[in-house]
Formats: sequence, structure tokens, C-alpha cells
Amino acid sequence: MKETKIFRVDPLNPDTKILRFAARAIKEGKLVIFPTETVYGIGANALDENAVRKIFIAKNRPPDNPLIAHVSSISMTKKIVSDFPQKAERLIKHFWPGPLTIIFKKSEIVPDIMTAGLDSLGVRMPAHPVALKLIEFSGTPLAAPSANISGKPSATSAEHAIDDFMGKVDIILDAGESSIGIESTILNLYSKPPMILRPGPIPKEDLERILGEKVEYHPALQAQTKEEALEIPSIKYAHYVPDVELIFIEGKRDCFLKNCTKLYKAFLAEGKRVQFLVSKEIAKVLKSILEPPPKCIITGMSHDFPTIAHNLFQLLREIDPKKVDIVIAESYEPKGLGYSINFRLRKGATRVIYCP
Ligand code: TXA
Ligand code: MG
Repeated sequence: MKETKIFRVDPLNPDTKILRFAARAIKEGKLVIFPTETVYGIGANALDENAVRKIFIAKNRPPDNPLIAHVSSISMTKKIVSDFPQKAERLIKHFWPGPLTIIFKKSEIVPDIMTAGLDSLGVRMPAHPVALKLIEFSGTPLAAPSANISGKPSATSAEHAIDDFMGKVDIILDAGESSIGIESTILNLYSKPPMILRPGPIPKEDLERILGEKVEYHPALQAQTKEEALEIPSIKYAHYVPDVELIFIEGKRDCFLKNCTKLYKAFLAEGKRVQFLVSKEIAKVLKSILEPPPKCIITGMSHDFPTIAHNLFQLLREIDPKKVDIVIAESYEPKGLGYSINFRLRKGATRVIYCP
């Protein structure tokens, strides 16, 4: 066990002394958990093979799952990529710093362990002042996957990171909750058309507007079987999985309610404890049609996607296997952020029911 130092920092105006201390730790090859606007990241010097290896060990992450490099400037980006397409430049102007990860071709200085042997490298410039300053003070790009044990919901607060990594990392910078709450959109510009490898806070429609061309979701994102999901690293592995059975019902409201009624009855008959992970509107309906009225975990108002995204991982982490056996989750209108929320519920589910 390591000694883990926890520092509370102001998210907007972080104490320079603390960030310099954390940056020194990065330069010494240590692990520092830091906040970003999407989720918390577990960071190490992306150019130091040994430091990056520590991330894989701490997270128990499969070695063939590549990491994203986090930068604080364009010049830092140019050092780690070997090609800088014009399209990337256009996107960067609009979306950086922010929740967009762009896939580049990697340069030689990036160790293979970062990319799991691929010649491509995901790069993002986070918008959080603490993250940006930490990278800048470290003077090196940071490898930073989400700060959760592999497979679990991502950490959106320092408390989550403490739960998973106390004694396993050197420093945790606590700047409160991540404002967005789900991880960055990942875009591959080298395919034709450009493809989203992980849907996130920046919707497809916005990318299309800036690029002036069609963008597609990678077909594997809708994977219904394990084999289909093997195609890209961002969805190959189980992720977002809570500690109980999670049933995700994907489709229209009427079909959702019909399935809920059927499943609720059947599970209660088996003596199972069931809860629903739903919007405020659906909770109201379920409480009026089901007997006994069920316990509902409220995600937000059904079209308030920013709030639902912000709450999602916190709610998944709060599900307590001592109190519930099965959680049944609703899907959202699959547009913009709604699509990205559905993706995470689908990935986290132990079972998905598709409604026509
Ligand atoms: O918002 C985020 O992106 C957060 C914060 C901390 O910045 N980071 C994050 O990293 O979500 P991670 O490692 O948890 O997720 C990165 C995803 C993984 O699913 C990985 O497979 C995929 O990005 N990925 C990384 N490099 C890739 C590459 N070269 N090609 C395709 N997918 C890649
Ligand atoms: Mg992750």
C-alpha cells in the first residue's frame, strides 16, 4: 500500500503550490488522480513507459486497451502525433479545450504501452482549469483513463476515486464533482466517413456541422452480441457495470412500461428486490400502475440530458447489492446526449431488452 495524499483544490482557481507539487510527482513517474470536466482521470507521464504501466496495474486494465493522451497546448499535441489533418485543426478550434478526443497517428516518442501497440493515439485537451494547469506544470502529456477500477462506472467525484484507489496512487486532487459526468466523445477522422468510436458530450450533429460532412457512429456501438463488440477497443470490454443485475430496456415508452409490468411481477414472485432507474415522469407512471409501488432511482427530467448525464455514474455507483437484486433502466430519446447516455446504460447492462 502507498501513502495517498489527498488535496482539496478550488476548481476555478486552484492553489499553484499544490499543483506544482502534483506536477513534480508526475515528473517522478508517480500516479496523480485529477478532475476533468467529463470524469476524473488517473494520470501519469504519457511518455514514461514505467509510469504508464503503473496505471494499467492500479486499474487492473487489460493491456490491449489503449490510453488517451491529455495535452494543455497545440504545440504539445504536435510533439506526440506524426500527422495533423486539417479536419483536426478545424475541430480543435471549436471544441478544445473540451470533451472531444481525436484519434491521430502517433509519433515515435509515444511508448507502445500507451496505444496497446496501435499506431494511432487518442488526444484530448480537457477544459478543467486543474487538469490544464497540472499538464502545463508537468511539461508533458498525461496518460489519463477514467479513475475507476476497470469495468466499473467512471469516477465523477474524488470520493469515487478514493473508493477505488486509496493506497494505490500517490496523489488525489479533489475539486468536487465533474460538471459533465460522462467521458469525452472519441472521433476517428481517418475512416470515411469519420466515425464516432465512443459517443459522448459532443453530439454527432455538432461534429457534422463543423466538419461540413456526414459523421457516423461506428456500427459496433449498437452491438448486440459480444463478437460484434470486439471490433473497437472503446467497447470491447465490459464497462459501467454496477454491483447488481441491470436490465436496460431500449425503445419506446409503451413497450418499456409493458415490459416493466411483466418483469416486476415475475421478479417479485421470485422474491427478488427490484428498483427502477428512470426519469421523474416515468417514475410517476410506474408508481401509479405497479403494485406495490416500486422504489425508483430518479435520473432527472426525461429530456434534461445534461442533468441525467451528470447524475448517471453517481447513481450507478450508489446501487447497493445489500438492498436490491435487480435494477431496471429506461432508455432516452437517442438524439445528442441522449444517445451517449443510452450507450453507457447498454454497456453497463447485464441484459438488454430491445423494443421495436
Ligand atoms: O473524458 C475522457 O475521455 C476521460 C477523461 C479522464 O479525460 N478519459 C477516459 O479514458 O475516458 P478511458 O481510458 O477510460 O477511455 C478511453 C477510451 C477507451 O475505451 C479506449 O479503448 C479508447 O478510448 N481508445 C484510446 N485510444 C484509442 C485509439 N488509439 N483507438 C481507438 N480507441 C482508443
Ligand atoms: Mg474508462
